[in-house]
Amino acid sequence: MIIAEASASGKIILFGEHAVVYGVPAIAVPVTTLRTTVTVETAPQGRGLTIHIPDTHTSLAVSLSDTPDHKNSLFYTLHLTLQTLNITTPPDLTFTIESTIPVGAGLGSGAAVSAALARALSQALGTPLNNDDLNPIVYEVEKIHHGTPSGIDNTVIVYEQPIIYTKGQPIETFIPTVSFQLLVVDVGHRTPTHITVGEVRQLYEADPLRYTAIFEAIRHIVQDARYAINDADWPQLGSLMNENHRMLQQLTVSDEKTDHLCEVARQAGAYGAKLSGGGRGGNLIVLVSPDHQASVQQQLIKAGADRVFLTQVGN
Ligand code: PMV
Repeated sequence: MIIAEASASGKIILFGEHAVVYGVPAIAVPVTTLRTTVTVETAPQGRGLTIHIPDTHTSLAVSLSDTPDHKNSLFYTLHLTLQTLNITTPPDLTFTIESTIPVGAGLGSGAAVSAALARALSQALGTPLNNDDLNPIVYEVEKIHHGTPSGIDNTVIVYEQPIIYTKGQPIETFIPTVSFQLLVVDVGHRTPTHITVGEVRQLYEADPLRYTAIFEAIRHIVQDARYAINDADWPQLGSLMNENHRMLQQLTVSDEKTDHLCEVARQAGAYGAKLSGGGRGGNLIVLVSPDHQASVQQQLIKAGADRVFLTQVGN
């Protein structure tokens, strides 16, 4: 019998990735149409915790003593949740995890699984975690995937609202006065985020002045983007996306195919395009008016994009 069900959304970063690691604000939004859902059933007494992942035909008997050394993010999530709830004896529960968020694509699949799993466990135990208590758990688990994450992914996913995120600062959420749509484009290959983040770190350490200047330029772009979103000024927002992309090129986190697809989108009539997230593949985002959507999408697929979907920012 299902006793609890919880879910969490995917996410995209609109502005400020990488610079956010160095204290610059960044803007991120949830992608509510992509979700991870976790259902919980009671298990026979003494069975402990079990996780089923039907998509990968996986069934795992959860070993809590293995955490966190074994770096199993699912076990670690359950461990931290029980710890937060002050529960020392693991209950007998079976979890089923289902997700429509592509894995490893910079869409927040890892953080969404952690958030949904922790929510589901706490609900099943009758003590649902609030978002303020859930966020640090998901952040801790994110460290397994990303090494030294800024905290933006877990925050936007846990609160499931558009956010302006500054490391170490209180969370600022916003609702666009006018909603808008973005195309999210899968470039077709991926680079783990910790690799590009590590390379930017090396560049920064070798020449702090040069890279601080780039981060500061991104800070201004993020600031202007907030005004453009507020004013519903789409041509301006698009041109800020292009500018942010140029800064990401200077941080060396773009690549030929990502640049090419951004250019194809612009040529096909988009207001602007930029990579989103860790870079060197993964996803790019494109701001386009409704009358250009279909043709931009078509051109992107023709130019080699793996998948293009539409997401809405705001209600
Ligand atoms: O690759 P993603 O979408 O998880 O984005 C990571 C964002 C970075 O700014 C590159 C790293 C971070 O921890 O903020």
